[in-house]
Amino acid sequence: MVISVSLGAKSYPITVESGALAQASRELSLDRRVLVVTDSGVPREYAAAVTRVCRKFHVCTLPAGESSKTLDNYRLLLQEMLRLGMDRGDCVVAVGGGMVGDLAGFTAATYMRGVDFYNVPTTLLAQVDSSIGGKTAVDMDGVKNVVGAFHQPRAVLIDTDTLQSLPRRQIAAGLAESVKMAMTCDEELLSFIESSDDLQRDLPWIITRSLAIKARVVEQDPTEQGLRRVLNFGHTIGHAIESHSGGSLLHGECVAIGMLPMCAPTLRPRLTDILRKCGLPTAAQASAVQLLPYLLHDKKAQSGSITVVEVDTPGSFRMERRTPEEILSRMEDAVL
Ligand code: GLY
Repeated sequence: MVISVSLGAKSYPITVESGALAQASRELSLDRRVLVVTDSGVPREYAAAVTRVCRKFHVCTLPAGESSKTLDNYRLLLQEMLRLGMDRGDCVVAVGGGMVGDLAGFTAATYMRGVDFYNVPTTLLAQVDSSIGGKTAVDMDGVKNVVGAFHQPRAVLIDTDTLQSLPRRQIAAGLAESVKMAMTCDEELLSFIESSDDLQRDLPWIITRSLAIKARVVEQDPTEQGLRRVLNFGHTIGHAIESHSGGSLLHGECVAIGMLPMCAPTLRPRLTDILRKCGLPTAAQASAVQLLPYLLHDKKAQSGSITVVEVDTPGSFRMERRTPEEILSRMEDAVL
């Protein structure tokens, strides 16, 4: 199955297929110098499937985890590219989850003012969300994604077989982003997740459906001037919880907790059941008072309020400006 992201000259295909890694030479143009970026948690054979078809390559394997998404590692990747004598005709390939994609993508966006970038996401979260849409970034001084750029990949290759080796907790974290898209844009997807008797078996369908939603949103608003903010549903409180947790919670787990306060009280029991079914947490181990400083630092809160996404009816949403205090008071109401 191929889903297209139509962005004029920046259009690209997303291939979703069992065994897609074996098609790397068909889907990616690798007859050049290639920097392959992966991490220590990604099975080595995934990067090997890519390097097997590169003319010349170098693999950078970073320690797994968000704490690797730093300016230091960004510099390290740039240094490797310089050392290899890479020029504007060469490319970067990310093989891994969101951290690898964000960091490798940002490196590709900025090396010599931009080189080609391919994304081969191997976690569910990256497959349904972060690998498409061109958001690339690194964290700095404890602020997530504060240095970044929009740089669309040339192609995204999703091998659904990679999910077989993924821990259950990582699958659950990825499902949180699909629930996010379902809650805001696709009631049918929400009902599907709710009634599935085997979520693992149904992942390929959930992935393609989520990608279709994301592709349509990105096509209409590639640089997040308006509509694309819908993809931040659950992320305002979610990011605060993630920062407060100091890395003990996964991004998707924080988004799960962050969505509940942002939907209508009547919807919360249904969403709670769906999140629990996915294996996700539904309550934060932090109080509103503890989270307030993180919301005040939110890069979107400079004018005193933040645009948040609220859901009253599944499959639809509205955007509202709210103060950090208003957002957190919803959190206190949402504990079920
Ligand atoms: N993950 C949110 C976005 O791509 O806009």
